[in-house]
Amino acid sequence: MDFLKPRYTPMSRRRRIYEGKAKVLYEGPEPGTLIQHFKDDATAFNAKKHEVIEGKGVLNNRISEYVFQHLNEIGVPTHFIRRLNMREQLIREVEIIPLEVVVRNVAAGSLSTRLGIEEGTQLPRSIIEFYYKNDQLGDPMVSEEHVTAFGWATPQEIDDIMALAIRVNDFLSGVFLGVGIRLVDFKMETGRLWENDMMRIVVADEISPDSCRLWDIKTSDKLDKDRFAATSAACLRPIPKSPNASASWRKASVRRGQVRSW
Ligand SMILES: Nc1ncnc2c1ncn2[C@@H]1O[C@H](COP(=O)(O)OP(=O)(O)OP(=O)(O)O)[C@@H](O)[C@H]1O
Ligand SMILES: [Mg+2]
Repeated sequence: MDFLKPRYTPMSRRRRIYEGKAKVLYEGPEPGTLIQHFKDDATAFNAKKHEVIEGKGVLNNRISEYVFQHLNEIGVPTHFIRRLNMREQLIREVEIIPLEVVVRNVAAGSLSTRLGIEEGTQLPRSIIEFYYKNDQLGDPMVSEEHVTAFGWATPQEIDDIMALAIRVNDFLSGVFLGVGIRLVDFKMETGRLWENDMMRIVVADEISPDSCRLWDIKTSDKLDKDRFAATSAACLRPIPKSPNASASWRKASVRRGQVRSW
């Protein structure tokens, strides 16, 4: 063995494939793999608010690893292979389906705004929504008709995506309930993964407090990215859920627009 030869490609020599708001994708060590690097950047209101929260990338890398690893173990296919270090994980490259798949259990965010349902109302059943992934358009909500008519996914793929979304929701709801947290809603991305001639839809991107609404079961304090909307990175204290605080929070949300498009 040549000990002088580095075993890993140094970061500077890796080919950068894509830099987004929260992550950087690098070419992976083998064909069909990528390295997903989690940054500390936090954005809200479609990147109009942007700050750095020290350590956020490290936490999201770990939380996403936990979720994806367990999903793999219970037979929900994901892009996740393994975590490489504090900020990076090895993933399978997929063809991203340009949809943000949102699963809602409790009314919040744009659902409350659009339909006038009070935030915190338990929904009669979990609701799945699709948003077209397009930052310039602000990720608009679309129907299954749009998805199939514009060829973003086939009817069969929509069925597969919805089945995955329900399983992810069941798993995540249980995990968070176990630690006293209510999963209000979450967003996931999916992609096509080819193995020989077979294609299957897998869960991709990340699942973390950046892509979930998480409320403390007892106090309903917001424990996710929505906190970032009302605070600066320097004072990320919990948003209390007293009736008055909740009303002022809602007013502030309306004034500022939603933290997330959904
Ligand atoms: N397994 C994968 N293979 C290919 N692309 C992936 C995979 N997982 C995630 N991605 C893509 O990598 C990018 C991750 O970067 P990031 O989340 O920072 O982007 P973003 O600025 O939020 O933009 P986007 O709206 O596309 O998510 C996303 O575009 C996501 O769709
Ligand atoms: Mg993203």
